[in-house]
Amino acid sequence: MRKNIVAGNWKMNKNLQEGVTFAKELEAALAGKTLKCDVIIGTPFIHLASVASSTKLGVAAQNCADKASGAYTGEVSAAMVASTGAKYVILGHSERRTYYGETDAILKEKTLLALANGLSPIFCIGETKEEREKNVHFDVVKKQTVDALFGLSAEDFSKIVIAYEPVWAIGTGLTATSAQAQEMHAFIRKTIADKYGKEVADNTSILYGGSANGGNAKELFGCPDIDGGLIGGASLDVEKFIPVIEGF
Ligand code: PGA
Repeated sequence: MRKNIVAGNWKMNKNLQEGVTFAKELEAALAGKTLKCDVIIGTPFIHLASVASSTKLGVAAQNCADKASGAYTGEVSAAMVASTGAKYVILGHSERRTYYGETDAILKEKTLLALANGLSPIFCIGETKEEREKNVHFDVVKKQTVDALFGLSAEDFSKIVIAYEPVWAIGTGLTATSAQAQEMHAFIRKTIADKYGKEVADNTSILYGGSANGGNAKELFGCPDIDGGLIGGASLDVEKFIPVIEGF
């Protein structure tokens, strides 16, 4: 079912103690409020079990391996992520694609393993500045979606959350305008409808990410095809994250 979601992505920030303290503080701060969205925090692997066992917040890993198990030193499998109590995994973030060479083919494997282990992928797609300037941003986003996800059955696809994150907006302070974001979200929803039908498309949560914060969340989340946000910088402080959550 389509849900409103605000998901934090801590990236490589916070040690274990800081992460657990943050999660408890956030949960306490949200306790008296009526929330209009699900709240998820995307933590480094080492925080997952502690945060999942000490709060009721949704918890996401930021990655998982493209292999099920075995001799892959340093990797963390989808089964291991699921065993911590985390229910989500962020896949295909542009930083993973750019710095760690993750291709659509690798992300397809990761997605299958995440789903096989009961995790919901928060699957990131988005164009670079250069691609937008060349006016190929729709083609890029469509190709990322088709190549990594459109081999899935409709049932499996319905467990995916999409995060549209224009690379030029991530960590730059250059948020996409709500018109730019809505235009792309509507395009993504149509792309999904063309493949899986209107019902699946209407039930898919599509989040926006890229310099979203307490100042712009309300306008972004007010767009008909924007179902929430994947939040980096503004998810690192409880006082900055809450106004984003309250954008709904
Ligand atoms: P940002 O990051 O909010 O700091 O731009 C978003 C993301 O990378 O998911």
